Parts: sequence; structure tokens; C-alpha cells
Amino acid sequence: MLTAYDYPTGLIVDRAGMDLCLVGDSLGMVCLGYDSTTSVTMEDMIHHCSATSRGAQKAFLIGDLPFGAYQASTEQAIRNACRLMQEGNVESIKLEGGRVYKERISAMTGAGIPVMGHIGLTPQSQAALGGYRVQGKTASQAMHLLEDALALQDAGCWSIVLEAVPAPVAKAVTDRLSIPTIGIGAGQECSGQVLVMMDMLGIFDKFLPRFCKQYAQLSVEMARAVEQYGKEVTAGSFPGPEHCYPMPAKEEDAFHE
Ligand code: KIV
Ligand code: NA
Repeated sequence: MLTAYDYPTGLIVDRAGMDLCLVGDSLGMVCLGYDSTTSVTMEDMIHHCSATSRGAQKAFLIGDLPFGAYQASTEQAIRNACRLMQEGNVESIKLEGGRVYKERISAMTGAGIPVMGHIGLTPQSQAALGGYRVQGKTASQAMHLLEDALALQDAGCWSIVLEAVPAPVAKAVTDRLSIPTIGIGAGQECSGQVLVMMDMLGIFDKFLPRFCKQYAQLSVEMARAVEQYGKEVTAGSFPGPEHCYPMPAKEEDAFHE
């Protein structure tokens, strides 16, 4: 599973044969330049989900419900999930949180909305968690995480993202669930893995979490290409004759007379 945010990145997800594609609210940080995900709105998500859906047509498409789109009530959560599916063209929504959302998620799945859970480090509540920190490090925190996972499974989630959780805890949770877990910073024993595309491609490199492997350094390569273009225009070597539209010889003569 990989994130994507627009038409070209959706195309890449499909071309590379990813099974699952998430339009994450990481959008706020890696595409929109916000400091956190809490500024992301439903309008932002719909705009980017629909663009991504035009590119990623084979991968199963999931969209994040942003902060403020499901916290108020079950009705609000159902309305916004339906909007993301109808206007954003996603096949499932994802939301953050554990057992406190059990009833809400049950109502959503009961209404026919596929829901992916997300527990462990939940970036939308980083202010309440005291920052971006590994979750479930003590035995009692690990037990709470397991209870959250079981509650989400009972509520009808088809899968759960485990973010920034010690590997043995993620394994224990995965072993006890019948639905798949998708890990990010959660070790090798989850059912699947997810990364943020802009992080793993080295396009967003303001900071790199420990759990992210950079498979390319594209911002370096992109800046190199743009710089070379600037130099060639200044030096007069771009555009070259091969980039210019010639005129038929006779017409050109007539034009110059
Ligand atoms: O917003 C996001 O990209 C996510 C993934 C990291 C799971 O929620
Ligand atoms: Na997210």
C-alpha cells in the first residue's frame, strides 16, 4: 500500500502494481505545506481523492477522513464518509482512533461504508499525544492497543493501520486479529505495509521518520533538472533546432521579403 495525492501519483501507484492506494491526510504536510494534518479539510480531501481516482484505477482506493470530519457525531461521520465516496470517488474511508469510535464505526459499516481503522500513532491527535511518538511501549499501553484493535474489528473495519508501534506489539495484535493489519513503523509482522509516497521517493525531505526508507532522492534530481534548464536558457543552448517548428522553405522566403 502506498499513498498518492493527485492524478500523476495515482498513475504511478497503478503502474507499479500497488494493491491499495491511500489518499492520506498527510496531504497537508507533503503537498500543501502545512505543519500538521489538522488543517486539512473535507474540500481538500475531495479535490485530491477525485484527482487520484482518475490516475489509480486498478488499486483499491482509500481516502482519509480529515480532522473535524467525524469527531462531532455519528451523523457527521456518515455524511462525510458518503461525500468522500461520492464526490471523491474512493472505495473506502479511513479514520483515526480506537474503541471510543466503536459505535460510530459500527453505524458506518452497517450503512455500507467500508472503513479502515488507524491506531498507534494517530497524527491528527499528535497535540493530545504530546507529539509524534511511538505508541504502545509499555505492557499496559500495548494491552490498550490490542483492545482498540479488537473493538475496530468488532465494529466491522476491514483492515487497520498500525503506526509507530514496537514490532513485537504489532505482531501480537496482528496474530490476534482476523482482519489484516497494515504497518507503518510497526515492524515486519504486519499483514501489509504502507509508506507516504513523497517520503519514500525523497520528494518531501524536510524530515524523515526512522521507519521510512528513501527509495529515491527525487527532489535532488528534480532540482538538478530545473537548474540545468535555467542554465541552458541563459546560455542560449535551449531551445535547440530540434525543439523548434520549421516553416516550409518557400513560405519562409515569402515571409522575409
Ligand atoms: O495520512 C497518511 O498518509 C496516513 C498513512 C501514513 C497511513 O495515514
Ligand atoms: Na492519515
